[in-house]
Amino acid sequence: MSVEHRRHGLRDNIGTGRWSLKIACLLATAALAVSGMARAGDPLAPTGKWSANTDGHAATPPMGWNSWNAFFTDMDEEKVLASARKIVESGLAAKGYRYVNLDEGWWERRRQDGRMLVRTEKFPSARTADGATSFRPFTDRLHAMGLKAGLYSDLGRNTCAQAYMPHEPNLPRGGVAEREVGLYGNIDRDIRLYFAEWGFDYIKIDGCGLRAYGEGSGPVKSGRYRALAPLLDLETVGRSDIPAVRGMFDEVKASLIRHNPDGDFLLSLCIWGSANVRSWGKDVGNISRTSDDIGPDWSRMLVNFDTAAKRALYAHPGSWNDPDMLFVGKGDFDENHLTEARSHFALWAIINAPLLIGSDLRKTPRVLMDVFGNADLIAVNQDPGGHQAVVAFDSSDAQVFVKTLTGGDKAVALLNRSSRPIKATITSGHLKFRDDAPVLITDLWTGKSTSFMREMTVTVAPRETLVFRANGRHRLDRAAYLSELPGLVNPAVDGVTDPQADPTIHRNVAPGGGTHGTGPRPIYAGWGGAQADATPFGRELQIGGRRYGEGIGVLANSRLEVRNPGYDRLTVNVGVDDSAGDADRTVTFAIYGDGRLLATSAGLRRGAPAQALEVKTVGIKLLELVARAPGAINERLPVAWGNAVFWF
Ligand code: GLA
Repeated sequence: MSVEHRRHGLRDNIGTGRWSLKIACLLATAALAVSGMARAGDPLAPTGKWSANTDGHAATPPMGWNSWNAFFTDMDEEKVLASARKIVESGLAAKGYRYVNLDEGWWERRRQDGRMLVRTEKFPSARTADGATSFRPFTDRLHAMGLKAGLYSDLGRNTCAQAYMPHEPNLPRGGVAEREVGLYGNIDRDIRLYFAEWGFDYIKIDGCGLRAYGEGSGPVKSGRYRALAPLLDLETVGRSDIPAVRGMFDEVKASLIRHNPDGDFLLSLCIWGSANVRSWGKDVGNISRTSDDIGPDWSRMLVNFDTAAKRALYAHPGSWNDPDMLFVGKGDFDENHLTEARSHFALWAIINAPLLIGSDLRKTPRVLMDVFGNADLIAVNQDPGGHQAVVAFDSSDAQVFVKTLTGGDKAVALLNRSSRPIKATITSGHLKFRDDAPVLITDLWTGKSTSFMREMTVTVAPRETLVFRANGRHRLDRAAYLSELPGLVNPAVDGVTDPQADPTIHRNVAPGGGTHGTGPRPIYAGWGGAQADATPFGRELQIGGRRYGEGIGVLANSRLEVRNPGYDRLTVNVGVDDSAGDADRTVTFAIYGDGRLLATSAGLRRGAPAQALEVKTVGIKLLELVARAPGAINERLPVAWGNAVFWF
């Protein structure tokens, strides 16, 4: 039987002729009714499967150390191993810091037969009698210390430092071909070498090789590099070749699976939010960079934070937003700026960012080691539920982020972005706790506990982030708002068809860049994507004149996958959000359980009252929430899954 026939086994029983045609039509109609008007090849068709990445080793965000922010390309074995030893001796390893990652600067060249060679003058343990070099002794050392080893490469032929830092030490040597050290054309060969032969556990893959080597670019004009037509454009999504870039990452992932039979690998995508990676990075990698490089200055840290902070629904166990590595230890985050250093760390912790130390640990003072070692904040970051914090209060100066922890406690961070002290109030409402029951809160920097009824006002110093663990009585009994559980929700199709620059992303003057030129351009950071407790454009959810403080906002023609860890029921009020620009188009909402239609709404337009839907979810593992509006311009049609609640 052909594959086609096996898939459509029914056909074998249906003969030819008028009757069979009629039966076929009836069957097709029945199938459409069951699947709620789903059609083959339709991205909104339910699949019954969670599509965000679960391969690799990232049930919680990775923790460890990376050489880049400490040394740039000027690294060597001794510097790296000294930091590794410090991680173990200081107790950071016991607290979860595992990965010791080499960033750019480890390579010598690519041999004529394609094999990559290690720069042995910097990594002497990689010397071999036959000159083939091997990182195995180095990774063995790290493994013997109970640590894991990470390496760095590029998706193109050449690298970031080759293009942008031509005077840095440790750039690849040799002729043009020998200096092509990136994965391009060598994906499987290199991944096999790095993982199966050398024993690495983690790879960060940059994208400069796909961006900086166009015909007529500086590096190519220098005669030192071969041209590669750019596939990535940082400023304009439309100028990137998304299928090509994604296809290459898919290839890398397939190689990683092939060469790591135990599944112990971690894939870090580093294309800085370009090529719309914000919508698909979560399906391919374990972490995905949301912005250009962080710098050791306050405003740059905020830019990076902003690009990930409102993407709670795009982070889950197995796939996390990555606003870049920590810069605690340098510049605005050194020991003389403890407030900023602590803020930076607390913010990364609460949004489930990877905790990758970027400081030279040989020289890191005790006070900063204590920042990295804050066990309570590490526990917030590593909470197994994997729910990234959601914005509870937002303004240019002050922000409040709330993260649901396993067991029902919340972590809450109050960030003062400004340079003057501010008064900030945490309310039971921010926490979704009842305001007639006390809330017990513990300051995660001082360990001091206190309690409040209804609200508590505190002063937050300039650039300070106060961070607490809070315990109170949940507003709902034996239930949770879906928007409190973003780690369970995957916007498999978020409806964004016209990626627009995000007006909420702060833009800063590049350090040392001054004000030459026209300044940094606004970038696409996921504006229009699905949001917890807000519309895709940051407004309050509202259907037919009624406001919803809780719910999921998303564009029309979207499909949300929702994992059900054992709830019995889901209730929700659905409708077109009142902020929609399109008053005519009809949206139909459908809920599926493990691929089967459970409930569907009438066709609803802007202004119509919300329709209540309720489905039993006992025994169901995966729900899919589909909002369908054939022919709509999705950006004009935000819809709301208002007051979505999971009940026991
Ligand atoms: C890019 C990355 C950085 C770092 C450098 C190395 O800029 O974003 O994190 O890896 O390349 O050259």
